[in-house]
Amino acid sequence: MSQIEPDKYAVVGDPIAHSKSPLIHRLFAQQTAQNIRYEAIRIDSEELSFAQAIEQLKQEGFKGLNITVPYKVDAFEQANQLTARAQVAQAVNTFVFEADGQILGDNTDGAGLVLDIEQNAKRPFKDQRVLIIGAGGAVQGILQPLLAKQPGRVHIANRTAKRAQVLGERFDTSVPMSASGWDAIPLEPFDIIINGTSASLEGKLPPISEKVLGAHSLVYDMMYGAQPTVFMNWAKQHQPNCQTLDGLGMLVGQAAESFALWRGVKPDIQPVIAAVRKLIQSN
Ligand SMILES: NC(=O)c1ccc[n+]([C@@H]2O[C@H](COP(=O)([O-])OP(=O)(O)OC[C@H]3O[C@@H](n4cnc5c(N)ncnc54)[C@H](OP(=O)(O)O)[C@@H]3O)[C@@H](O)[C@H]2O)c1
Repeated sequence: MSQIEPDKYAVVGDPIAHSKSPLIHRLFAQQTAQNIRYEAIRIDSEELSFAQAIEQLKQEGFKGLNITVPYKVDAFEQANQLTARAQVAQAVNTFVFEADGQILGDNTDGAGLVLDIEQNAKRPFKDQRVLIIGAGGAVQGILQPLLAKQPGRVHIANRTAKRAQVLGERFDTSVPMSASGWDAIPLEPFDIIINGTSASLEGKLPPISEKVLGAHSLVYDMMYGAQPTVFMNWAKQHQPNCQTLDGLGMLVGQAAESFALWRGVKPDIQPVIAAVRKLIQSN
């Protein structure tokens, strides 16, 4: 009996060797009995433009892609159709190659974060005071799904204050929103604090006051690793009873949203987060 060829998917970026996405999608495929192959492909912009590389993968029969750093804005520009959340984010992390040759672009990062905070950390956003630190690509992607959950208020603080202000003004929402640099963050406890800066990648802390921490705050760092991040450690040092979480669940959550878009079935993210966590900690 002839085997049915698996449908092909990949994550593209540069660098890409470190990507956990092939492992995550393999675990999703096993869990949901989907016949897919998923690989990590580096696009070297000195060899091929992003558009040329995507055309090549389309010709090779790939059904869809994840797009990561530094190509999320290129992907936004290349998609023929965009989901509403990709349009608002102005960045795309998922392509669906349609049968008629069109490319649908989506952004699942924000949905991944909301899923992780609401389901894993068990902290619904409704009526909560939320502090978002950072105003780069990742924060741009999470704001619309987060605002849709009707938090009580949102303050965005960023090293470059103007960037936070411009981002805050882009959203037409009934949720009270404000934005500032480090110097004008309201000095009161927030219920949910999300670090979306890349400071943790360098082992650095954004220079914010511990007064934003409450005894029961959820302190979330979008970065993840084998150990708690410097930001999570800082929060625990000042508020030992606060809840901290890193961004591994967001990574698995956004992957689950992409998988559902491609395959029409939503995997359970809990066992996959646990498996990837175990692997990271054993390395
Ligand atoms: N878990 C996940 O699935 C997931 C998904 C996406 C991203 N992430 C993580 O999210 C973080 C941000 O990624 P991104 O794509 O948004 O990056 P980005 O577009 O380059 O934005 C970087 C942000 O960090 C700020 N920043 C950089 N260095 C800083 C420092 N030393 N101190 C304070 N602020 C600093 C920047 O401020 P300025 O505007 O002033 O430059 C900007 O707001 C990274 O840690 C990334 O790994 C995680």
